[in-house]
Amino acid sequence: MNGHERELAEAQREHWQHTYGSHPGMYGQAPSAPARHAAIVFRASGGREVLELGAGHGRDTLFFAREGFTVQATDFSATGLEQLRQAARDQDVAERVATVVHDVREPLPLADASVDGVFAHLLLCMALSSEEIHGVVGEIRRVLRPGGSLVYTVRHTGDAHYGAGTAHGDDIYEHGGFAVHFFPRHLVDTLADGWTLDEVHAFEEGELPRRLWRVTQTVPR
Ligand SMILES: C[S@@+](CC[C@H](N)C(=O)[O-])C[C@H]1O[C@@H](n2cnc3c(N)ncnc32)[C@H](O)[C@@H]1O
Repeated sequence: MNGHERELAEAQREHWQHTYGSHPGMYGQAPSAPARHAAIVFRASGGREVLELGAGHGRDTLFFAREGFTVQATDFSATGLEQLRQAARDQDVAERVATVVHDVREPLPLADASVDGVFAHLLLCMALSSEEIHGVVGEIRRVLRPGGSLVYTVRHTGDAHYGAGTAHGDDIYEHGGFAVHFFPRHLVDTLADGWTLDEVHAFEEGELPRRLWRVTQTVPR
């Protein structure tokens, strides 16, 4: 990480801490549509243990736990994860949920081939360089068992906010305090090198609307 990347990363962590502190449960309690899809994918391959990266306050972690999965949830915001733990206790699923404060720029604190499915909704398109994103996906592959799938979503270069706000280079733009790495299609394809790329599904979310891809890729057996 160079000096500018480090500064941006630290500013973003503080921004997310502050955002969850001032808007507890900001994404609501209903699971996202990509999480519903991921549960079907993970169950189809017999998956039981799920890792969610960038879980925030846990709307999707809690859904996976209610569906019977064991979930390890990570995020670099301790505030978001505290809200997640409280909600897990309230919903009586705390025994199936573990949380770890973790920045995805660091190696994942998990053993090789130790999880069945990885879910990351709107995490890889945060303020991460292309090199860092490749590093994260390499780590995800390391911790997934053969036959396990990664389901992730990202905003892409067809999004209305692409090119708007402060440019940080590498397709990263900051708008309203949030920095986003808008994915070009070739980044999706190179991240799937050595995987089976099952699907790239385009969808929209929110009022803007945000334009996203939901990507499903699987470690060959
Ligand atoms: C757009 S929010 C999505 C939250 C959650 N996935 C959801 O959809 O409800 C992105 C999340 O990624 C987390 N995040 C951003 N950069 C991160 C990093 N480098 N390491 C770990 N978490 C990060 C933020 O704290 C935030 O919770």
